Amino acid sequence: MTNYAENVTVPVVTIDGPGGAGKGTVASAIAAAKGWHLLDSGALYRIIAVAGLAQNIALDDAQALVEMAKGLEISFAHEQVHVNGENFTDAIRTEDAGNSASQVASLPTVRDAIFNLQQGFRRAPGLVADGRDMGTVVFADAPVKIFLDASAEARAERRYNQLKNNGLGVNLRALLEQIQERDARDRERAVAPLKPAKDALIIDSTKMTIDEVVATVMAQISSKIE
Ligand code: DC
Repeated sequence: MTNYAENVTVPVVTIDGPGGAGKGTVASAIAAAKGWHLLDSGALYRIIAVAGLAQNIALDDAQALVEMAKGLEISFAHEQVHVNGENFTDAIRTEDAGNSASQVASLPTVRDAIFNLQQGFRRAPGLVADGRDMGTVVFADAPVKIFLDASAEARAERRYNQLKNNGLGVNLRALLEQIQERDARDRERAVAPLKPAKDALIIDSTKMTIDEVVATVMAQISSKIE
């Protein structure tokens, strides 16, 4: 068994929050600025959902999903995601993949199956981990915890503009409904629900630029770690 105890002194910054609040962009910027490792935990749930569907596994079949997850060789390198040698980068980024990920993420045994894998990302000189339960469960001892929020309307609008810029036709109202549905599932599930850790700094990014959010997080890191 891997002993992760030796890594507990490695600093971790956790960034949790609902989809579309800017967690991924902020986490990448902080990791690049600090020269630290990055864990996009949502990508792991997306991979399990997409790989499961490709093998005709139902998204509520916890046992089959866990068995399948054990056999996945996952690599994150150069902003590309490979699973068992296949490029999954684009397939996991669709709205459908996000909704499917939210479904598999509500299964406790699926969450348990990737717990150690996630903790293995904690390596020197530091880690920035984004998701829903990074500060509450996976890295509960992290010295810096951020909960990045934004109104559902702002998040839907950002996603709408992103998809439109990529030349994809989307409906803002449908997008908002999907976001609200996913929020409700992530917040109301029994295990590791989306909520701020007690010691998290809550940042509402509704009216902030990414640069302002990054500056706020960097200031928090300086005050807590350096
Ligand atoms: O952050 P994201 O949109 O890529 O995450 C996709 C889904 O995965 C999200 O709706 C809920 C789930 N998730 C989770 O339950 N716990 C995490 N730490 C990260 C994501």
